[in-house]
Amino acid sequence: MKDTHQAQPFIQVNDLHHVYLRGTPLEVTALKGVTLEIYEGESIGIIGRTGAGKSTIVQHFNGLLRARQPGKVILEGQDMSDPSVKVKAIRQKVGLVFQHPEQQLFERLVGDDIAFGPKRLGLSREERRERVRWAMEMVGLDFERFKDRFTFSLSGGEMRKAAIAGVLALQPKVLILDESTTGVDPRGRKDLLARILELHRHHGMTLIFVSPNMEEVASMVDRVYVIDDGRTAMSGTTREIFDRPDDLRQYGLGVPQVTTIAHQLREHSLPITRTPLTVAEAAEDVWKILNS
Ligand SMILES: Nc1ncnc2c1ncn2[C@@H]1O[C@H](COP(=O)(O)OP(=O)(O)OP(=O)(O)O)[C@@H](O)[C@H]1O
Ligand SMILES: [Mg+2]
Repeated sequence: MKDTHQAQPFIQVNDLHHVYLRGTPLEVTALKGVTLEIYEGESIGIIGRTGAGKSTIVQHFNGLLRARQPGKVILEGQDMSDPSVKVKAIRQKVGLVFQHPEQQLFERLVGDDIAFGPKRLGLSREERRERVRWAMEMVGLDFERFKDRFTFSLSGGEMRKAAIAGVLALQPKVLILDESTTGVDPRGRKDLLARILELHRHHGMTLIFVSPNMEEVASMVDRVYVIDDGRTAMSGTTREIFDRPDDLRQYGLGVPQVTTIAHQLREHSLPITRTPLTVAEAAEDVWKILNS
């Protein structure tokens, strides 16, 4: 659960702007004023229609993009626009799984690719092997079966899993998943997300989750930021956000199906007091109504 009593957010973003290809005919203003804060141990969703600026935002969190334009990104109290900030140290703490996994895999063999981060951490051969084995198990890639496979021969879903394993192998404090489970089959996805949620809930890993799937967002995160046209458009707890379907619609977004059903039942005067976010919550509520 979030602890907003902590003195300082782990990541603080103030009025962040970002322009791609500035001064060229292809110039795009991707961010026009994003403000948000993320505390250690939180799980945060970032949602918004395609092109809203979500990937551009999260690439500022591990120093891939630097806030040199108006606005600030402060990470653990360090101003990321300061050139003396060591990006290598940041990347160890903040693991970003890219939207396109093929941008992340570059070693020939899957095992070597996942071992790349631990190697740079200076871990021994034995420790590296254990990390790789652990990370592959976390994402549901069998160690013996996949470690010597060529990365380019993996299917789309397997590539995603390998990319996530490579980031998990660093055991980062903050894990950012940018639409990282797209293409993984539903069962594999469910297992993978359950293990990630476990790392968040029981091992304190901060989770930043970007996804077009509202059901997944609802089940994974405690708080949500809605981004629209490069700006922070809405923020609140997951329940507060999904309790405003009309506002979300305006930003091209929906709510989980089960939430829609609950809203409709409420319009028909059924005494649904809280907005259910998951099927399990809805079942609980319906059960209470049937028993009352
Ligand atoms: N490397 C780049 N060069 C030029 N323009 C870019 C680049 N990356 C993103 N953009 C543009 O910046 C805007 C924001 O893109 P971004 O990828 O951050 O959006 P997004 O919310 O992640 O979208 P999606 O949901 O489709 O992943 C878009 O208009 C996009 O075309
Ligand atoms: Mg994106």
